[in-house]
Amino acid sequence: MVSQSPTQAIALSLTLRTLAEIRGVNIGVSVGAEELQTIPTYAGLVAREFNILTTENAMKFETLRPTMDQYDFTDADSIVNYAQTHDMQVRGHTLVWTNQLPTWLIKRNWTRDQLLDILHEHIITVVSRYRGRIVVWDVVNEALNKSGELAEDNYWMKGIGPDYVELAFQWAHQADPDARLFYNDFSNEGLGPKSNGVFKMVLDLVNRGVPIHGVGFQMHNDLSWSLSPEDVAANLKRLADLGLEVHVTEMDVRIEQPSTKDELDAQAKIYGEVLGICLLASNCTTYVIWGLSDNYSWIPYFFPGWGSALIFDHTYQPKPAYYALIEKLLER
Ligand code: G3I
Repeated sequence: MVSQSPTQAIALSLTLRTLAEIRGVNIGVSVGAEELQTIPTYAGLVAREFNILTTENAMKFETLRPTMDQYDFTDADSIVNYAQTHDMQVRGHTLVWTNQLPTWLIKRNWTRDQLLDILHEHIITVVSRYRGRIVVWDVVNEALNKSGELAEDNYWMKGIGPDYVELAFQWAHQADPDARLFYNDFSNEGLGPKSNGVFKMVLDLVNRGVPIHGVGFQMHNDLSWSLSPEDVAANLKRLADLGLEVHVTEMDVRIEQPSTKDELDAQAKIYGEVLGICLLASNCTTYVIWGLSDNYSWIPYFFPGWGSALIFDHTYQPKPAYYALIEKLLER
C-alpha cells in the first residue's frame, strides 16, 4: 500500500518508475541514442524514472535505411542495448509512416510489386533483428486523415493501396509472433470522426484475424486540451471490448513562451489527468512522454515560439508536471 505524499515519495527515492511498477503500468520516454551515450545526466535520469523507452527517431525508415542496400542499426542497437542493461522495455517506433522516408525511396518511381518487396523486406529485417528484445511496435503510424479515412496522400497508400496496413501487421507478426503490434495516431483519444475511423479500421482488422494488439494515443497537447474524460474512457472501453490494449505514446503539453508558473501548473494538471484516465482503464497499460527534458523536445523546432512541453526542464529539474504524475501514481 502506497501512502506517501509526493514530497515524501521523492525523499524516499520513490520515482515514477518505482511507483508505476507498484501500480502495474509502464511509464516511458522517447529518447535519442546520442543523448543516452554522451550525456550522463540524461542517461541516468532516463534509467531512474522510466521502465520503457521509445526510439524517437532511431528506428524510422530514413534512419535505418540511408541507402537502398544498407541498413544502419547503430542508433537503434544502442538504445535497445541501453534498455536491456537497465532492465527496461522498448517500443519500436515506427515501421510504416509517410514521413521521414529516405530520398532514395521517394525520388524514384516504383511499381506496386517493387514497393511491396521493399516494405516486406524492411519489416522482416527490422522486426527479426529485435525479435524478443522489442516487446511492442508501432507498426503503422498516422495512416488516417482527420475524417478517419485512410489518407490518400500517404506514400504507402499511393504506391500500394489500402492493404498496406494489414500487410504490415501480418509481416511484423511473421517476424516476431510474440511482439505486441500497435496502430498509432494523434487526435484519436476522444470520440469523433478520427477516433471513429480508427475504431472502424481496427474492428475490421480484428474481425479478419489480422494480428493487431493495440492502439496508440499520441497525446500531443497544448493548454487548451479539453477532452471529456468520459469520451476518452468510452473510446478506451470500446477498444477494450475488442481485446485491444491502449498506450499513451507521445505525451507532451506545449506552452507559448515564456511560460508562467500558472501555465506550468495548468500543464501539470493535464499530465496528471491523462495518466488518471489511463490508470482507470483496464486496457491502458503504458504512458510514454515524448522527450525527457525541455531541451530535447521537438516542439520549439516545429512550433517556433512554443516550448516547455515536458516534465523536466532544461536543467533536468522536475517540473510541476513531474510531481503531478507522482501524485497520480500515489492516488488510490
Ligand atoms: O534540432 C535540429 C536542428 O538543430 C537542425 O538544425 C535541424 C536541421 O534539419 O534539425 C533539427 O532536428 C529536427 C528534429 O526533429 C528536432 O526535434 C529534425 O530535422 C527533424 O527531422 C526531427 O523531427 C522529428 C519528427 O518526428 C519528424 O517528423 C522529431 O524529432 C520527432 O520528435 C517527431 O516525432 C513524431 C513521431 O515520430 C510521430 N508522431 C508525431 C511526432 C511529432 O512530430
